[in-house]
Amino acid sequence: MTMTSAVINVYDNAEAVAAAAAEYLLQQISLCVAEEGVCHVALPGGTTPAHCLALLAQMSLPWQQIHWYPGDERCYPRAHPARNDSMIREKLFSTIDPAETNFHPIPAELGPEAGAEQYAKLIDSLPGLDIVVLGMGEDGHTASLFPDNPALKDERSVVPVYQAPKPPPERISLGLNTLRNAGQRIVIATGSGKRDALARLQTGQALPVALVEPDTWFIDKAARPDKA
Ligand code: 6PG
Repeated sequence: MTMTSAVINVYDNAEAVAAAAAEYLLQQISLCVAEEGVCHVALPGGTTPAHCLALLAQMSLPWQQIHWYPGDERCYPRAHPARNDSMIREKLFSTIDPAETNFHPIPAELGPEAGAEQYAKLIDSLPGLDIVVLGMGEDGHTASLFPDNPALKDERSVVPVYQAPKPPPERISLGLNTLRNAGQRIVIATGSGKRDALARLQTGQALPVALVEPDTWFIDKAARPDKA
């Protein structure tokens, strides 16, 4: 898969992808904390990362030195089961001492504009994100940046999203600049449903996930385009 200088790791199945990605995150986060004393990590929503996060939860990370951020959030009330932070809390933090976790959920219950404005104050106070982990939709979206959606061109650090094609229509996302400027960008994509988007990326199509300029991909054989 010719996507500039990105490293594409291909595994037999989603379980192997989850294990490899968790191991890689353990290594990269530990390195970051060793060098910087802290690591700022953005995490994806959706279903793909769930197993990886559950594995990560069992690893001996320097939890107190890590700050975690959802890469995007769906505009539902707090604690709504379909929110991305609900999945992240369940998979990553349910077995960790709350006093040891620094999780910064996006206030999506405020609505797209107000929530984005408030969260931008936090993101703008950081030196930048060290690691951004992302999923990819079947249309090549990432976080809540969808093809041809105005949010993709919004220069703000955190952006409101309207008319998202993947429910719910109203969301909040880290902006493209925030994602692209992160220390490293890691994408996890599995299943045959992602194959078409990956094939389109291979032909150089500027899908939203390509605009983030990922460094490292973790995909399974089902998602790999035929001519990879
Ligand atoms: C969301 C995520 C979205 C997700 C992709 C892939 O709100 O769903 O932000 O970007 O990562 O749509 O979703 P799956 O992992 O469920 O295929």
